[in-house]
Amino acid sequence: MFCSCRIFKFCCRQIWKLFRRPGKWVFGALTSYALLTAVILAFCLLIYHSDKVPQNVFTFQGRDLFHLIPKMRKTTTLERSSCKDLTLLRIPDPTIDTLNKSLFCDDAAENRDVVCRWFFNQIGLEEGRSCDRPDDGYGVPKIVYYVIFGPYNFQFWHYVSIMSAKKIIKPWGLYVIGDAHPFGYWWKRAMKDVKGLRFVYREQPPKIANRTVQWKHHLSDLVRLQMLMLNGGIYLDTDMVVVNSLDPIRNHDITMGIIENGNMGNAIILAKRHSPFVKEWYEGYFTFNGSDYFINSLHVPFDMWQKNPGRIHLESDKFYRPNWFEADKLYNKSDFPWQNKYAVHIWTSSNPVPKGPEELKTLNTTIGQIFRYILYDDPALPKIP
Ligand SMILES: *[C@@H]1O[C@H](CO)[C@@H](O)[C@H](O)[C@H]1NC(C)=O
Ligand SMILES: *[C@@H]1O[C@H](CO)[C@@H](O)[C@H](O)[C@H]1NC(C)=O
Ligand SMILES: *[C@@H]1O[C@H](CO)[C@@H](O)[C@H](O)[C@H]1NC(C)=O
Ligand SMILES: *[C@@H]1O[C@H](CO)[C@@H](O)[C@H](O)[C@H]1NC(C)=O
Ligand SMILES: *[C@@H]1O[C@H](CO)[C@@H](O)[C@H](O)[C@H]1NC(C)=O
Repeated sequence: MFCSCRIFKFCCRQIWKLFRRPGKWVFGALTSYALLTAVILAFCLLIYHSDKVPQNVFTFQGRDLFHLIPKMRKTTTLERSSCKDLTLLRIPDPTIDTLNKSLFCDDAAENRDVVCRWFFNQIGLEEGRSCDRPDDGYGVPKIVYYVIFGPYNFQFWHYVSIMSAKKIIKPWGLYVIGDAHPFGYWWKRAMKDVKGLRFVYREQPPKIANRTVQWKHHLSDLVRLQMLMLNGGIYLDTDMVVVNSLDPIRNHDITMGIIENGNMGNAIILAKRHSPFVKEWYEGYFTFNGSDYFINSLHVPFDMWQKNPGRIHLESDKFYRPNWFEADKLYNKSDFPWQNKYAVHIWTSSNPVPKGPEELKTLNTTIGQIFRYILYDDPALPKIP
């Protein structure tokens, strides 16, 4: 660009030399040239200032200016979807400001697993190329999240859930996000048996949209949407056990399931990065109602589905059956056809969930079969020797 300015000035000078003697019309032409020169110079200066360059570059090397032009065409920080997402995410949750923004929305972020970058930043290691996102042709990346706040004793069934994610999904990234490490034998076992399982520290939001949070679940509900929005992937509750590949449903904007009338389940969510559905659902938290357990996390997405069923892919039967009121099919019976489901919700509260592998040796029930399938590849009861 500057080169052409110089050439232009050179031309002007030549013309001046040629025409300074003859009649007055030349004067008019020259004035036009001078004006044009001024306009182009002003334009050059404008470009120069629009891109904060250190002052010492003012020596105006043509090379430097060429340098600036491709830079101008790149999306600016404000235009990038991830940066816009961060701005939106912080409205009900100002603790978003504790995240290092550039990890989530710099030039490299769009082609990386940003939670992986976040993890590497936390442990003080260079990420190198280890956070690149493979492109396997599906919209939803094989990145799995669990989000739980507060310290908790990691149970045998949490371990089974993580093992199911490892075995069935074969994820590129597997993250447990929270403000405290889980503890106990089964957490240690999970860390040992699942290479690439990563705990990522995330400050606990003290409030949602300035309102007190009565149920800690709501913090996890909020943060799981943040992760899906910024990175895309698969959210799992620790009581979901995946039993079949999710590949057939990895190309929808979002996939969820209805648990029962009026309640969308959020124990398993597959979503593309920057999903418009997740965005709108999240915006519901701007007016979070802390005294209603269901509204923001389960009713809002249900109502959105009712308004426009095409926006969401549902897998109610393959995610949430047996239902919580059909729990005897899991815990008392052994003939439930779980083999054609994507995942099974194991309804841990008030049911006798197996506490360790000893129980699996004799448990002639659906849950016994599922756990044995995940851990030993064989749902059948072991033969008595
Ligand atoms: C934030 O992330 C950027 C991009 O990876 C990194 O260069 C910078 O050191 C990080 N800052 C902190 C305080 O960790
Ligand atoms: C929370 O309160 C702050 C300070 O009063 C206000 O600026 C902000 O808009 C509020 N946020 C929401 C989501 O209501
Ligand atoms: C919040 O939910 C409760 C319980 O459903 C309801 O009584 C109350 O009116 C709601 N508050 C607002 C501000 O919507
Ligand atoms: C399973 O059977 C036992 C004994 O009959 C009963 O007490 C229990 O409630 C049943 N469990 C479920 C989930 O129905
Ligand atoms: C398991 O229970 C079923 C009935 O639900 C029964 O038919 C079957 O024989 C039992 N299997 C074993 C190995 O006890």
